[in-house]
Amino acid sequence: MEHFTLLMLSQMNILLNILLMFMLNLLLMAMVATVFFVFILKNPFKEGAIKSRFHKMQKLENIGLLACKVAHDFNNILTVIGSCADYISVDCDDSEKSMANEILKSVDSASMLTNSLLNYGKSASLKDEFFDMNRLICNSETIFRQFLEEDIDLIIDNPNEEAFVYADYSKIQHALINLIVNARDAVNSADLSVNKTIKITVCRKNKSELLHDFSFEVMDEYENYVVLIVEDNGQGINDFVRENLFEPFFTTKTSDAGSGLGLASVKDIVKQYDGKIFFESEKDKGTAFYLVLLQAY
Ligand SMILES: Nc1ncnc2c1ncn2[C@@H]1O[C@H](COP(=O)(O)OP(=O)(O)OP(=O)(O)O)[C@@H](O)[C@H]1O
Ligand SMILES: [Mg+2]
Repeated sequence: MEHFTLLMLSQMNILLNILLMFMLNLLLMAMVATVFFVFILKNPFKEGAIKSRFHKMQKLENIGLLACKVAHDFNNILTVIGSCADYISVDCDDSEKSMANEILKSVDSASMLTNSLLNYGKSASLKDEFFDMNRLICNSETIFRQFLEEDIDLIIDNPNEEAFVYADYSKIQHALINLIVNARDAVNSADLSVNKTIKITVCRKNKSELLHDFSFEVMDEYENYVVLIVEDNGQGINDFVRENLFEPFFTTKTSDAGSGLGLASVKDIVKQYDGKIFFESEKDKGTAFYLVLLQAY
């Protein structure tokens, strides 16, 4: 009996040892697998992703710097054109005078654009101010029209109430110009039997109105918003474009017509002011872009 117990004990010992070895092996294999995934597989991927993101950011930064430099040099050229037109307008007949005045007006709006490009690179807080969005729309109407051909109707729908925001006036104007130029390209590419139309609307909405009127849900604590809507009756946006619209350098236009930076920069500006951008589009019916900014008071 004693002999039998001893035999059993030794066999159990062997079994336990085998089990222990087996478990140790499993543990070792798990550790090796973890090390393999973390250091050999995962890191190069992560590193690759970080590297490509970094390169993308570096590229964007360089483009930004180049754009500011071009804007700066372009401003100098505009100054020369402006002073020559000014000089010509002093001593000439009426028709030449009106041409010179046209040149001066165009120089003014071109330098507004280049200045907005230059200001884009500067710190936000320096240029932020309280302003009524209706004032921006009304004051900029002539500038907006300069981007549109004669056969495009521009409708401006202002509310009777003030719509104050706290932001950089020229950045918001820059964002609107981008949306208007996109709308122009969309109506020009559409095969329309009706007038080409771009409509700009300013309205005030609280959280629940945003959800009710536009099905747009705001998660923030903030209650009141100013909404800018740029609508067109252009070609609309297809599913593939929808997915990539805000990606920098994504464009469906030829390289001389678009760089694919417009909406990325609009999104950037809106984000800077804790705002949101969204859009609705129907193929061959048109598109509406909504900029939702915090209402100041
Ligand atoms: N209102 C719109 N209707 C139809 N498609 C649009 C509209 N707005 C933007 N898109 C699509 O989104 C793409 C990206 O727009 P985005 O403004 O970023 O770049 P872009 O207009 O192509 O070039 P850029 O603005 O840099 O000159 C456009 O190429 C176009 O295909
Ligand atoms: Mg664009």
